[in-house]
Amino acid sequence: MRPRRFLPAGPIKGRIRVPGDKSISHRSIMLGALAVGETRVTGLLEGEDVLATAAAMRAMGASVERMEDGEWRVSGVGVGALHQPTGPLDMGNSGTSTRLLMGLVSSHPINVSFVGDESLSKRPMGRVIDPLSEMGASFEASEGGRLPLIVRGASPAVPITYRLPVASAQVKSAILLAGLNTPGTTTVIEPVPTRDHSERMLKGFGAELDVTVEADGTRVITIKGEAELKPQVIDVPGDPSSAAFFIVAALVVPGSEVVIENVGLNPTRAGLVEVLRQMGGQIEFLNSREVGGEPVADLLVKHSALKGIEVDPAIAPAMIDEFPVLFVAASLAEGVTVTSGLDELRVKESDRLSAMAAALTLAGAEIEEREDGLVITGTGGAPLPGTATAAQVTTHLDHRIAMSMAVAGLVSQQGVDVDDTRPIATSFPNFEDLLASLAE
Ligand code: S3P
Repeated sequence: MRPRRFLPAGPIKGRIRVPGDKSISHRSIMLGALAVGETRVTGLLEGEDVLATAAAMRAMGASVERMEDGEWRVSGVGVGALHQPTGPLDMGNSGTSTRLLMGLVSSHPINVSFVGDESLSKRPMGRVIDPLSEMGASFEASEGGRLPLIVRGASPAVPITYRLPVASAQVKSAILLAGLNTPGTTTVIEPVPTRDHSERMLKGFGAELDVTVEADGTRVITIKGEAELKPQVIDVPGDPSSAAFFIVAALVVPGSEVVIENVGLNPTRAGLVEVLRQMGGQIEFLNSREVGGEPVADLLVKHSALKGIEVDPAIAPAMIDEFPVLFVAASLAEGVTVTSGLDELRVKESDRLSAMAAALTLAGAEIEEREDGLVITGTGGAPLPGTATAAQVTTHLDHRIAMSMAVAGLVSQQGVDVDDTRPIATSFPNFEDLLASLAE
């Protein structure tokens, strides 16, 4: 464990860049490892989760190398040609690596054992096991469809049409990746849109993928196997989910003004900015442009008097990883913020509803935990009391709980004690350095 007390800070000012997008980084390595030839990636997130994906793709035959200047080069084996790994693939804390790779492996003639840390080993994998079993793969999972588990890939796999029962980009992506090496057309029906990086990137790599949107907004995604992928040059934009901590920090610390450069603003990811603007947050987009096929801008964020709102549950998929830090913003806003429709937060790296309710309550915020959301009565801008001596926030191996409570510590009377900052390295290794560089 690496505990730390996050202390109150003066205005945060300056310009920063956050690391590359985690979702795009995982997919760059996976798709590069399936293309024939060399894919070059700049701005890759070098966090533990993405490094777990890189190690897995190496174990299945690809060459994945970091150059001295920080560029990554991936030489792929070709769709259908993944090697049998010699040992279990260690997924660490990473749900994305696990679920997407379970998909990939499912349509290859290999048997792969997946293991992970204590947090990952509690997370449900049945949501990918069900469709991938329909495609012909078989599974030996631990109780409740959890890790450690073994996937026996099908050869050939069978194309399916699958309607997603949960709004999950990971489940959608697992099926599309399995579809890459499945003869015929695999179809995913997505009633509630989720992040679409897989669709954009599969197309970019040359897969025959089509998306049609029905009158009620349902998306129907088809992919044709057996695909041939062509290597790409990818510039990964900054991760909006990492920028989120600094957006909220600048909004809640009086006198702050920060520019966060090069933030990815794909509409399926940009829900937090919309909600914070509804709360009165001053967030401006500067220099809007496209990077790597994704909308990107520099964000100018100024301290703002936030007001509580009722958050429309329909926006949840577009900010699914940002609720922990939104709860911090709500705790410092004027009035009541109501969130609902957030059952999925209970199966992330931790149960984020109960973990954040406990953490913010410990820091002196007024929180009511409901089955599917939190109701938060804010201080109206006054600092939270902070955690008492000897009381520590429990992060439950969840990076986003640690970083959210670090932000809460900035606007507290006595600081916030976090029991373990190590999980931050899964997605944002230089978070604490960046925070120190901005906070006076
Ligand atoms: C991700 C999808 C989301 C998100 C996760 C990354 C992805 O999970 O929480 O951090 O890269 O596809 P779900 O699809 O399970 O909601």
